[in-house]
Amino acid sequence: MTPSAYSAPVMDSRSTFKEDIFLGKVLFCTGGGSGICKGMTEAIMRHGANAAIIGRNLDRLTQASKELAEKTGKVCIPLQADVRQPQTLRDAVRKAIEKFGRIDFVICGAAGNFMSPIAALSENAFRTVIEIDTLGTYNTVKATISHVREAKGAYIHVSATLHYRGTPYQIHVSAAKAGVDAISNVIAVEEGPHGVRSNVLAPGFTTGTEGMRVMTGKKTNKAEGFSNPLGRFTEIQDVANAAVYLFSPAACYLTGQVIPIDGGAEHLRGDF
Ligand code: HXC
Repeated sequence: MTPSAYSAPVMDSRSTFKEDIFLGKVLFCTGGGSGICKGMTEAIMRHGANAAIIGRNLDRLTQASKELAEKTGKVCIPLQADVRQPQTLRDAVRKAIEKFGRIDFVICGAAGNFMSPIAALSENAFRTVIEIDTLGTYNTVKATISHVREAKGAYIHVSATLHYRGTPYQIHVSAAKAGVDAISNVIAVEEGPHGVRSNVLAPGFTTGTEGMRVMTGKKTNKAEGFSNPLGRFTEIQDVANAAVYLFSPAACYLTGQVIPIDGGAEHLRGDF
C-alpha cells in the first residue's frame, strides 16, 4: 500500500468527554501495571474513577499505582495476583471490595507473548499463553461478575488483530486471543439481561509496549513497509480513548463488539 499522506492526531479523551463521567466508579484492571492497560487505567481515572491494578510483580504495580494516583488525583491500589490462579484473583477482588465497596468496570488485559514458530514451540509454552490470556480472562470474569452485575457495569477484554489472518510465529497468541473474543461475546449475551456489557478492544501494533518489542524487536519503530490509512502506529492513548467511550454512558447500547484500534490496518494485513 502507498504510505498514507495523512497522520492522525493523538487526542486526549478529555477533549471530548467530561472529566467527571466516572465519578464514584471503580475499575479493576488486570495487567494494569504497564503498557496499554496502564494507559487505559490512567484515562479512566482522569475521568473520575478509582482503580485497582492487578499483576504478578508487586514492585511494578506499587510504582504504577503511585504514578497513576499522582497524575490523576484519584485512588489506585496495587493488588498482586496471577490470573492463572483463581484464588489469587478472588483475594484481589475481596481486597478491592474492602477498599472501594464496588467494582463497576473490569479490564481483562493480562497477557503474555513471544515469537515462536510451531516447530520450536513447546507444549508448555503454548499452554502458558493460553492460560494467561484465555483462562486468565475466564478467571477474571468469574471472580468479578457478581460485583459487575450489582453495579450494572461493563467489561473490556484486550485482544489483538493477529488472529483474523494467519500470523506467523503467533499460533499460541492467535489461539488465545480468538478465545478471548469468544468469551466476550458469550458474556455479552448471557449478562446483557443483567445490565452488564462486554466488548473487546483489539489494538494493532502499539508504540511503546512490550507487545511491540516482542513483535518487532524494538519498542518504537517504523516497521519496514508498514502503512495504514491513518498513517501511523496505534498509540496507547488511542486505546485509552476507546476504553473511556466503551465504559461511558454514551456506549450504553453497545455490547458484544470487537473493535480493532489499528488505524484500519487489519483490512490491509496481507500488505504488511
Ligand atoms: C519460545 C518460550 C519463550 C520464547 C518462554 N517460552 N519464552 N518459548 N520462545 N521467547 C516458554 C518457556 O520455555 C516455557 O516452556 C514456557 O514458555 C513458559 O515459560 P515461563 O518463562 O516459565 O513462563 P512465565 O514465567 O509464566 O512467563 C510467561 C511468558 C512471559 C508469556 C512466557 O514471556 C511473559 O510473561 N511475558 C511478559 C508479558 C508480555 O509478553 N506482554 C506482552 C503482551 S502483548 P518450557 O517447555 O521450556 O517449559 C500481546 C499482544 C500481542 O499479547 C499483539 C501485538 C500486535
